[in-house]
Amino acid sequence: MSISDTEFLKRLSDIVGSNGVIEDPARGPGPIARPRSTEDVSAIMKLCTEFSCPVVTVGGNTGLVMGTQRDGSELALSMELMREIEEIDVHSRTMTVQAGAVLQTVQETAEAHGFLYPLDLGGRGTATIGGNISTNAGGNRVIRYGMTRDQIISLEMVLADGTIIPMQGKSIKNNTGYDLKHLAIGGEGTLGVVTRAILRMRNFPISQNCAWVGVNDWESLTKLLRFMDAESSGTLSSFEVMWKEYYEAMTGDSTPYAPPVPHEYPFYVLIELQGSNQERDQARFEEIIVQAYESGLVADAAIAQSEAERKTMWGIRDDVTLLFENGFLDTKNMSFYSSDISLAITDMDDFVKEICEELPGADQNSYVFVFGHLGDGNLHVNPCAIGPDRPKSKEMGEIIYRAIRKRGGSISAEHGIGLKRKEYLNWTRSDNEIELMRQVKKVFDPNNLMNPGKIF
Ligand code: LAC
Ligand code: ZN
Repeated sequence: MSISDTEFLKRLSDIVGSNGVIEDPARGPGPIARPRSTEDVSAIMKLCTEFSCPVVTVGGNTGLVMGTQRDGSELALSMELMREIEEIDVHSRTMTVQAGAVLQTVQETAEAHGFLYPLDLGGRGTATIGGNISTNAGGNRVIRYGMTRDQIISLEMVLADGTIIPMQGKSIKNNTGYDLKHLAIGGEGTLGVVTRAILRMRNFPISQNCAWVGVNDWESLTKLLRFMDAESSGTLSSFEVMWKEYYEAMTGDSTPYAPPVPHEYPFYVLIELQGSNQERDQARFEEIIVQAYESGLVADAAIAQSEAERKTMWGIRDDVTLLFENGFLDTKNMSFYSSDISLAITDMDDFVKEICEELPGADQNSYVFVFGHLGDGNLHVNPCAIGPDRPKSKEMGEIIYRAIRKRGGSISAEHGIGLKRKEYLNWTRSDNEIELMRQVKKVFDPNNLMNPGKIF
């Protein structure tokens, strides 16, 4: 059938009302259905099955792997009207939300009740819980609290034929057969539509202590991670590493950021601890940083003395897009590849060195920006080649993936596969694994209507 079939569109608006179906070319081709409830989603999916209409579920659209790309033949199912926070249970420390709830709203709602929803990432103001679930999003505090998978106690989903798979309750433990929600988490919308979720909240941290440090060599860097973890009694919540080129670019003359420590080291780390007593934690934090300095693990350090300084430090880590906006890079004359890879920490130094040697164009004012979540074994290696003889972006990506495959790593750590990385899935997943995934997909979605063509 065609997506503009009048009978299909009429029955669709019977379900969601006439303003429940919109067209907005700025958001991609074809109609966008906006359900208001799980029952709406179920009715839409029944209709789509009857008409064999493929469906792409859409959240905040902050993903980086073209996971919600549409070609105009699919119905977009936007969760934008399903953003309710349904319940906060302070005793169970859970929050029940609809899938379209925005991450930042969830964080702020938790905070207003004295809780922390720990997942955090740059797109927080737009990204939705449903989108986080579909990609198993990670971000900056995974080292302490885990990825999205670790925050989801239960979820509700609707299958392609309209079947509603209900929530599984509010307790963390539930060993009653296969834990089906874990297939939907990271499933990139290919197995069903996640409609509601019960989220796990933690107590809100009373203290946050943050420092920026320069490190002299790789060995000290990995020792520093273990040292911080050991000394901070389980309160280490971020250990974000940046290689020199990225730090120098972010704190150079053309940016609003002054460097917290001088441009003299190969590695820099943003370290943050979240604890329960401001005075005590701050004193302890300073003590640990001084110890790290005295033992040579840290060559230089700046401790944030105010919330403003803390925000600045996070800006230097997070504001990646600044590099493309401030004239620092000749973006018109540039190939760029952004990656999200994972590998053993043991292999990282050698991996980055190999990549930097192999990537062409050191003579052409080119850069390899490397930063990432070291404790999670996750780096973002982002080469920029500038100049007339620059390689294609794709070639640069393949240099990275070859080096990753050789070391038994993964071509995606926290962003997913979508369309962007689909042709490389079998570089780090075996044929047998992919075949098993295809069979799982068939069980959930026998007619291949859910986000078809994504992942594999
Ligand atoms: C980050 C995104 C790219 O860590 O995952 O900034
Ligand atoms: Zn990241």
